[in-house]
Parts: sequence; structure tokens; C-alpha cells
Amino acid sequence: MIQLYWKHATAKAVGAEHGIAPGELTALGERLAAAQRAVTERIGRGELGYATLPTRQDYRDSVMELTKKHRPRCTDLVVLGIGGSALGNTALHTALKGPTYNLLSNAARGGPRLFVLDNVDPAIIKGTLALLGRRLGTTVFNVISKSGETAETAGLFMIVRELLRKRMGESFAGRIVATTDAVRGTLNLIARRDGYDTLVVPDDVGGRFSVLTPVGLFSAAMCGIDIDALLAGAAAMAERCANDDWSANPATMLAAIKYLMFSAKGKCTHVMMPYSNRLAGLADWYRQLWAESLGKAVTRDGEEVFTGPTPIKALGATDQHSQMQLYREGPNDKLVVFCQVEKHPAEIRIPDSFADIPGLAYLRKTPVGKLLNAEKIATEYALTQSHRPSVTIKFPRIDEENVGAFFYLYQYTTSLMGELLNINAYDQPAVELGKKATFALMGREGYEELAKEIKRFSREDKNHLI
Ligand code: PA5
Repeated sequence: MIQLYWKHATAKAVGAEHGIAPGELTALGERLAAAQRAVTERIGRGELGYATLPTRQDYRDSVMELTKKHRPRCTDLVVLGIGGSALGNTALHTALKGPTYNLLSNAARGGPRLFVLDNVDPAIIKGTLALLGRRLGTTVFNVISKSGETAETAGLFMIVRELLRKRMGESFAGRIVATTDAVRGTLNLIARRDGYDTLVVPDDVGGRFSVLTPVGLFSAAMCGIDIDALLAGAAAMAERCANDDWSANPATMLAAIKYLMFSAKGKCTHVMMPYSNRLAGLADWYRQLWAESLGKAVTRDGEEVFTGPTPIKALGATDQHSQMQLYREGPNDKLVVFCQVEKHPAEIRIPDSFADIPGLAYLRKTPVGKLLNAEKIATEYALTQSHRPSVTIKFPRIDEENVGAFFYLYQYTTSLMGELLNINAYDQPAVELGKKATFALMGREGYEELAKEIKRFSREDKNHLI
């Protein structure tokens, strides 16, 4: 099971100005316990649907039923969704199937190729559809949208639906699986009218908390990921997160460190830096979870605070050669969260060559995973030498249990952070204006006044164009 290692975030490791002293943790103890009680009460009142997901057999069964139906004939699976309706899918897939999965032979993959179309970049849409070409008849499109009206997903869906209708006639509906609200919304309406297979986005689970619902589970199961093991990992972590001894609970400790770093040590930027390409998607998923949940203008009592740590993604060792100069010598405003894998899913050894060249000889016969892990420790050491705090999430290996545990740990930690910051971690009011402005610019009915205002705003001023 994943573990949190936090020695290098202590005052002993990086100094009192930048690290956490035992007394600071003890002083926060009461508030941590209160935050945990508040989260437990919210779970008890049914407000945090994500917390029940590890043991929701009904969602799991609905996913397996459709997987059984579609998987045998499916060569390609295309997810259409954005934000919380896409990032979890990519994170799961990259972690558990690896970044080169789509390039493998059919036999080696054992399941469909997976494409996640989130952005409305015409080049990527056209390129992906062209790639599918004659395989369109054996492609399943999983359109995911809780609201059913997100412009990017709606646009993608309309393109795909029309293409399928033209190529396949009335049988086109059999190629679409819609994951959306159980009873409401535009996508639900269309799914019923056209007759698609459907899966549910639970009403009580927000987009960024939905990876363990059918939103994330269907593409995972279709590609051969063991969703029972994934949910079991999340359930095991849920048990650890329920421990009311906050010093033995990974979520309360992670929340305590992140909160103290943010509020008392000036660490406004929280970098997640996995030392594994497979875990890079988890860092993208974390960025959304952290940014949309914790970046808030007001507290629950309406007081203006403009709070929230800025989440950043970096990849080890790649970003040692890009970001590390700044992280060590730039402003000391960052907490780095490393993700380290003890046993990498594949290993390859550097050959026994260049024994006579001192600059390379030390690398001979070294397993590459050992080199990568040494680079992580080297970076941790270098940061610590510059009084830059860090913590590590240790993955014994990358498998379903540990990835499921990671998702749950971060979701629960986000809830605790919401309590500590006294903000609503479950809404995203600031995202709405951008969505409405897009509707207005694209001529949606009911947005005429906003459209006029934006037209005035976006009129180009040649005095500022060089
Ligand atoms: O976390 C969120 O709520 C958002 O990122 C949504 O997931 C995203 O905007 C997509 O929304 P929808 O699923 O309604 O299309």
C-alpha cells in the first residue's frame, strides 16, 4: 500500500522557517481532528458521494455488464469528455497500461486502443478520426458529461454522432455509450431518444471526484484494468483515512503538512513530481482536483480570502533538466510532493560497455529503475540542502490497489483541506463565467447581452498591437 514519507518537510530537515516543527503539528491537532469529524459528518449526511464509491457494487456491476457486451468486438475506444470527465480516465490508463499501450499488437494489448479526446483542437480531432478510418465500425465512443452541455464535449459528440450516422445508418447508436446524469440533462435526453447504452454519473459526486464512478471505470475495464482491485485499494485507503489518530492517518498528515506549508511557511505552490512516466497522469488529475476544489474567493462564511495553493506538475527525472534550477534557487515558495516507485513495472539494464571511459563507466550494468530512483533521492537531497521542503508518496509498485489508494487519499485530503481553509471544496463558481462567455460568443440563445459585452471587450485596439 502507498505510504507518505515526510521527514524532509520537518524543521529538523530544512530549518524552522521552511519546515514543520513537532509543536506546530501538535498545535494544529485540535483543528485536524475537527476537520476530520466534519468530513466524517458530511459523509454520514450523504454529501460526499465519492467516499462511498469503493464499496458501490451497483456502479461496478453496470460497468462490467456493458464491458462484457462491448469488449469482444471493440478495437478502439474513444472517450469524449473534459476536466473531471477525462483526466481520471487518462490517469488510470497511463498508470496501469503505460504510455505505449496503443502501439502494441492486438494480442499484446488484449483490449481496445484508448483515445481520450478532451480538447476541441481540430487537428487532434481530425487526426484521431482519420486514424480510426475503417475501424470505425468496431470503435466504441464513450461520451462522458454530467451536465451534458459542456461545449467541448458537446461539439465533439455532435461531430462523432454525425460521422457514425453517415457511415453506419440507423445502427450508429450501438457504437455510443453515454455516461451522464441518471435522469436529467441534455445528454440523458439524447441518449434516451437515440437509444444508447448508458452509465451513470452519480448526482452526489462532482466531476473531479468521479474517477471511481462509471466515468473512470468503464474505459478502465474495457482496456483490461482490474476495477475490483482498484476499488479494493480505494477501500483499504478509506479505512486508513478513517483513523481518528491524526498522526497515524496518511490523509490527516498530508493535509496537515500541506496546510501548514501553505498558511505558515509561505509555500503557495504545491508541485507534484512523479519519478515515473506512468504516474504523470496522476499529477494532471491532482492539478484539477486541487485547483478547482481549493482555489476559492470566499470562505463558507462569506469572508473574502482568495485562497488556495497552486498545483504544478513536474516529471522526474525529465524536469530536473528544466525546473530544478528554479525550485532550488528561485523563491522558496514550493512544497514538492514526489511520487516514487519502489519496483518499476518494467526493468532494463544499461549494458556493460565503455569500461574505459570514466564519465560513463559508473552506469554499466545498472538497472534503469535504480538510476531513476537515485535521481529522485539526489533531487530530494539537493532541495533539502537549499532548505526546500518535500514529501514522498511511496508506491511499492504501480498496480490497481495502489492507484485506487492514491485517488482516495488525495480526494479525502482535499476534503480535509477544504475544512481547514473553511471553503467549499465542491463547487467551481469561477469556471462558470468562462463557460457562459463561450456560450455567448458561439451565439447560444439567452446569452445575447453577455455576447454584446464580450464583443466590446474583445474589439482589437491597434495601439496595443505591435
Ligand atoms: O470537476 C468538474 O466539475 C469539471 O471539471 C467538470 O468535470 C467539467 O467541466 C466537465 O463537465 P461535464 O461532465 O458536465 O461535461
